[in-house]
Amino acid sequence: MCGIIGVTGVDDALPVLLEGLGRLEYRGYDSAGVALVTNTGLWRARAAEGTHSVRDLLVGGGDPPPLASIGIGHTRWATHGQPDTGNAHPHFDCTGRLALVHNGIIENHAELARDLVRGGHVLTSKTDSEVLSHLIETEMVRGTSLAEGLRRALRHVRGSFAVAAVHAEEPDLIVAARRISPLIVGVEGGTSFLASDIPALLGATRRLFALEDDQLAELRPGTMRVTDLYGAHARPAALTIDWDAAAAGQDGYDDFMTKEIHEQPKAVAATLRGRRAPDGTLVLDESAGLSHDDLRSIERVCIVACGSSYHAGLVAKYAIEQWAGLPTDVDIASEFRYRNPILNERTLTIGVSQSGETVDTLQGLRAARERGGKVLVVSNVVDSSMAREADGVLYTRAGPEVGVAATKTHLTQIVALELLALVLAQARGTRAAGEIASLMDQLLALPDTLEAVLERTKDVAEVAQELTDARDFFYLGRHVGHPVALEGALKAKEISYVRAEGYAAGELKHGPIALIEPGTVVVGVATRNCLWEKMCSNIEEVRSRGATIVLVGNDGDERTADLADHMLWVPAVDPMLAPVVDALPLQFLAYWLAQARGHDVDRPRNLAKTVTVE
Ligand code: F6R
Repeated sequence: MCGIIGVTGVDDALPVLLEGLGRLEYRGYDSAGVALVTNTGLWRARAAEGTHSVRDLLVGGGDPPPLASIGIGHTRWATHGQPDTGNAHPHFDCTGRLALVHNGIIENHAELARDLVRGGHVLTSKTDSEVLSHLIETEMVRGTSLAEGLRRALRHVRGSFAVAAVHAEEPDLIVAARRISPLIVGVEGGTSFLASDIPALLGATRRLFALEDDQLAELRPGTMRVTDLYGAHARPAALTIDWDAAAAGQDGYDDFMTKEIHEQPKAVAATLRGRRAPDGTLVLDESAGLSHDDLRSIERVCIVACGSSYHAGLVAKYAIEQWAGLPTDVDIASEFRYRNPILNERTLTIGVSQSGETVDTLQGLRAARERGGKVLVVSNVVDSSMAREADGVLYTRAGPEVGVAATKTHLTQIVALELLALVLAQARGTRAAGEIASLMDQLLALPDTLEAVLERTKDVAEVAQELTDARDFFYLGRHVGHPVALEGALKAKEISYVRAEGYAAGELKHGPIALIEPGTVVVGVATRNCLWEKMCSNIEEVRSRGATIVLVGNDGDERTADLADHMLWVPAVDPMLAPVVDALPLQFLAYWLAQARGHDVDRPRNLAKTVTVE
């Protein structure tokens, strides 16, 4: 989390930094700040309520900000220290001549800080990051350059970092380095840039490179030098940029979440495009790195992911087991790497991550690689850290997702994983060609179905209006409806701030049903699948205890409607594909509940889109 940015070699650095910070805000918005190197030293502005308030701070009262050709900026997701101005980046050293921004966690910050304070340094914030500015200061007092000072400082550090620093004594230079946290650099004409992520620099340059772990870049106007932490020449990885600046904009919608929900039909269609060869067989991109022999030799699948991506993985488990007959485990990435997963060369480990940067998933995949077997990543970001490290990548082609709550990337993950399940079934001969072709036809028809559901947003808004005052929600489902319920509950929690528990409906009677009372809202995924009748019984159980019932049901299904106080209607599709369709009204429900409560759906509290800390 946190986003960092830097630019050197422009006429006026401040607007470039503010524009980039605006695009990085999805990485955190607890506070923000910028530092410029001017003729008279460093100039800094920081504010505690996100980038907008930094902008207000700068254009509001006081002296106008100075013109500078170089600067760095930061938008924060607080880990160590409250989200106040004093803890906002950039952090100075004791001299006030060095400024630094950092994304990541310095795990040994406490012992480093103790030594620094003993050495006479005065630390002014509660952050783990500030120790870095003072460590560099210590090295520079000994006469080293800024770049060498950062190299040496980082050798003392444990943890993760994407870091950038400027110094008044080297007024055209930014030094930057990374370990685990992502960092990209680029040069365009006489200007050099850095940022945590591609969207921040879209429109500025398309010549971008990703620093590898423990690489350091020295950026001067129009030039870039990359070394390792001991000064040896190093080569960053060139990035393929297939997004444009317009795709990362709001495009006239009230917020990014609405825009991205409405982009889902297009995103699903793009993810499926070109996956059927002229002879009718299904194919993956070459980037997936899975030959026919590989697909046939797999004996087990292990899916590793977090949050909404984990829920997409849960849907995939049903599809891979049912269609391809392969045992499939789905693990929460932060747990996976700390147990002892049993993998071998016939295990396919699949990391699911829209950003490709989530540190838990990244580290989980590294652990899997060490144990053998192929690692495939399903990611939305071309050349993301996971994509570069894995044996193969299956890209979802959803375009940039800016809203913090995953919507179009979640649906495209399900679609990509179901496509993979069909390809596995085809290679292993576990399903007849005709059945695979029919399922693919139905996948390809999903964009039209989604378009039809999008038209119903106002119906969902009316239901949400009725539920404005409810605080306790249970989301229930069975079979593939279970992950849909988990995802619906996650959406409600993160943007509507209601207590929403997602449960397998059959599990409720083993304890949680004690919480059902009049006023509790139960949202059930009750589209027709093999467990629909059992699902109806589970709904009866909570209805008889006074819950208000909201059901996702198939158009015209009066038997389902008989059980509900409110219906969210969707067209019927093959039960295995239903999660793609059934998720949509639950996205809308969370959205409209959030609207009714006056929340900013694109900036839910305490969250950041890309989670690069453990
Ligand atoms: C929820 C959401 C998160 C992410 C999770 C994993 O709406 O967006 O739960 O799904 O942080 O992120 P990625 O997919 O980037 O690894």
